[in-house]
Amino acid sequence: MDAKTNTKKATLTVDGKSVDFPVLSGSVGPDVIDIGKLYAQTGMFTYDPGFTSTGSCDSKITYIDGDAGILLYRGYPIEQLAEKGDFLETCYLLLYGELPTPLQKKDFDDRVTRHTMVHEQMARFFQGFRRDAHPMAVMVASVGALAAFYNDSTDISDPKQRMIASMRMIAKIPTLAAMAFKYNIGQPFVYPKNSLSFAANFLNMCFAVPCEDYKINPVLAEALDKIFILHADHEQNASTSTVRIAGSSGANPFACIAAGIACLWGPAHGGANEAALAMLAEIGSVDKIPEFIKKVKDKDSKVRLMGFGHRVYKNYDPRAKIMQQMCHKVLKETGHANDPLLPIALELEKIALSDPYFIDRKLYPNVDFYSGITLKAMGFPTSMFTVLFAVARTVGWISQWSEMIQDPHQKIGRPRQLYSGATSRDYVDIGKRK
Ligand code: CMC
Repeated sequence: MDAKTNTKKATLTVDGKSVDFPVLSGSVGPDVIDIGKLYAQTGMFTYDPGFTSTGSCDSKITYIDGDAGILLYRGYPIEQLAEKGDFLETCYLLLYGELPTPLQKKDFDDRVTRHTMVHEQMARFFQGFRRDAHPMAVMVASVGALAAFYNDSTDISDPKQRMIASMRMIAKIPTLAAMAFKYNIGQPFVYPKNSLSFAANFLNMCFAVPCEDYKINPVLAEALDKIFILHADHEQNASTSTVRIAGSSGANPFACIAAGIACLWGPAHGGANEAALAMLAEIGSVDKIPEFIKKVKDKDSKVRLMGFGHRVYKNYDPRAKIMQQMCHKVLKETGHANDPLLPIALELEKIALSDPYFIDRKLYPNVDFYSGITLKAMGFPTSMFTVLFAVARTVGWISQWSEMIQDPHQKIGRPRQLYSGATSRDYVDIGKRK
């Protein structure tokens, strides 16, 4: 652990008894109280559903200042990486901690490229799914199945095997994602093409067909590459925490990433872009927005403005700003500039940003608000949106998993609880139960 114990102490007083706890400082961000000895010293646990005030690990990968709207990967602002870098460079940065030299970049790109094909038997594995299966269901299953296909890289105590498994997932998960898409629409799988960039290859695997040439649009390839950069990591969010918890038991990396994909699927997390687009379609026209906002504010309706709000950002999500610009560029390029959903999104955003309900709760657009419209214009169906998120987030999950495995203070993740069920009672024979 590199966090420094500082001179501050936190004192907890319960029933007149006071106990001191060390306060740790990171390189930036709020200090944390080290309560590791709380139970031993007081016989009590902390209670924090949703972990809103709990730091679960010491990490050097990603930093978010939610109040200022700042996101840094290994110290580099997301805006600079999205403007000047490419996705594989971001992968290198997240995995190794530094930006690559030209030689390191070329070697890394080559290594990822050489792993893009999946075992041919995987194609048979896909045949077992119904054609109408949700691609995220196929992703959870097929990524989990990688452990069965690549058993030679599941020994987590071997750094070489860990790196091979990492490269395999960064390279093969896009191939599986494209296969899930093709299978769903009843088209033949398209093999990866190693002469193409990461994003261009993904577009080709998704949209090429054997009967005619597919010309990759460089504007779309660049936009997709940036979308991947924006989604590459986001510190200890729900899916990343899931990956870390799964990995803390010593589970193999393929199983851990499959667990992360399962968590990402939820509408409060990666499924929000699909939900945001569905919401815009449901609103239907700009004049229906006030009625919809009324529903959102009514607590009994349980309706939320999808693509708005964030556990950490209490300011404009920096990724949403880049996403909004990209959305306009992609819509113009694809001739979807007149997409009827765009004016609804723009007006909704304008109203929400000036409405006291949203201002008081610090609810701003998040990355998912504009990503749905952008991906739709690129030709992806809504069911693929979260799959694309998973393709991008794979490197973040792997980097966090790898950091955890190498952390000498790592323990199995095992939270405690506030038990409020029945106290001890005697078993009643079935015939005597009322
Ligand atoms: N629409 C309307 N009200 C909202 C929204 C929303 N999108 N989000 C939060 N609120 C209200 C909520 O009702 C509560 O109000 P009150 O204090 O009156 O009870 C207050 O804001 C705080 O909400 P919370 O549920 O305690 O906040 P949280 O930190 O637990 O939830 C969130 C964060 C992202 C789950 C939530 O904002 C949400 O459901 N947003 C919509 C889904 C979404 O866009 N998710 C994508 C997140 S970004 C991508 C990713 O990381 O996966």
